[in-house]
Amino acid sequence: MGYVTQILEVLALVFVLLLGAAALIVVLCYVIDRTQTGDAIRRNYPVIGRFRNLFTRLGEFFRQYFFAMDREEMPFNRAQRDWVAHATTGKDNTIAFGSTRNLGVPGTPIFVPAVFPPLDDQFAATAPMEIGPGAAIPYKARSIFNISGMSYGAISRPAVEALSRGAAKAGIWLNTGEGGLSPYHLTGNCDIVYQIGTAKYGVRDAEGRLSDERLRAVSDHPCVRMFEIKLAQGAKPGKGGILPGAKVDAEVARIRGIAVGQDSISPNRHAEVDDFDDLLDMICHIREVGLGTVF
Ligand SMILES: Cc1cc2nc3c(=O)[nH]c(=O)nc-3n(C[C@H](O)[C@H](O)[C@H](O)COP(=O)(O)O)c2cc1C
Repeated sequence: MGYVTQILEVLALVFVLLLGAAALIVVLCYVIDRTQTGDAIRRNYPVIGRFRNLFTRLGEFFRQYFFAMDREEMPFNRAQRDWVAHATTGKDNTIAFGSTRNLGVPGTPIFVPAVFPPLDDQFAATAPMEIGPGAAIPYKARSIFNISGMSYGAISRPAVEALSRGAAKAGIWLNTGEGGLSPYHLTGNCDIVYQIGTAKYGVRDAEGRLSDERLRAVSDHPCVRMFEIKLAQGAKPGKGGILPGAKVDAEVARIRGIAVGQDSISPNRHAEVDDFDDLLDMICHIREVGLGTVF
């Protein structure tokens, strides 16, 4: 019996010590929070203010797993992520018994079955759209849906290769993005739209001006069917862009025509294009040198 009493006494002592330590920590936190000047929440609500950050961070996980509905999250919701997970593991993507979308939102596209649907040989053929009818080599776009620009470097080699193969299969074009033409864009042998961004990556000289020589080399490539001039840095309005030196390895430097390991600036617009006249001059010049379509 004495043995049990002793254990209980020790446990009680530990409990009191822990309680004391906790009280001491609370007092310390209170003093620290009240006297610091970096965080207004903790200064105004000492101790409990600390839980705000914790709960905010935890909230992200709780919402994702327990509270968010299937189609609530941005930019990709759970239904879309599941769809991709199923598709990439070869599972069935067909979902029976209705839609998980709210179809009552105005503007939701709804496909209504025709009373007398067309048979296989009755579908209207989509005529290819000719781009640059006045160019030396106009481009006939077979599809109105294509792959918009995402630079190699912003997306990885497997991603670029997958897009290239997919574009070839689908008969659509792949836009390089402003990061230049990598060997991976050519994997699938698809049509390529070469984007000339404001830093003119891949078609620039050492000073960042358009290099006719490099432009010709790019346009000589049979897969490169069009040039696209990106006029400004739409996603960074008024600021231009910066590619940090840490991301400029030997391969990126070679593809883009810049120095290894150095920051590279994408100006807010093409330095030589002040107005529409300049833009037309640039388009004509690229058409002449590159012998192809520009849009
Ligand atoms: C990783 C990444 C890289 C991108 N790089 C470029 C680029 O180099 N040039 C460009 O014009 N747009 C670029 N974009 C923008 C896309 O081409 C596209 O316009 C944008 O993602 C909006 O389309 P979405 O809503 O289908 O994503 C990039 C987008 C992403 C996600």
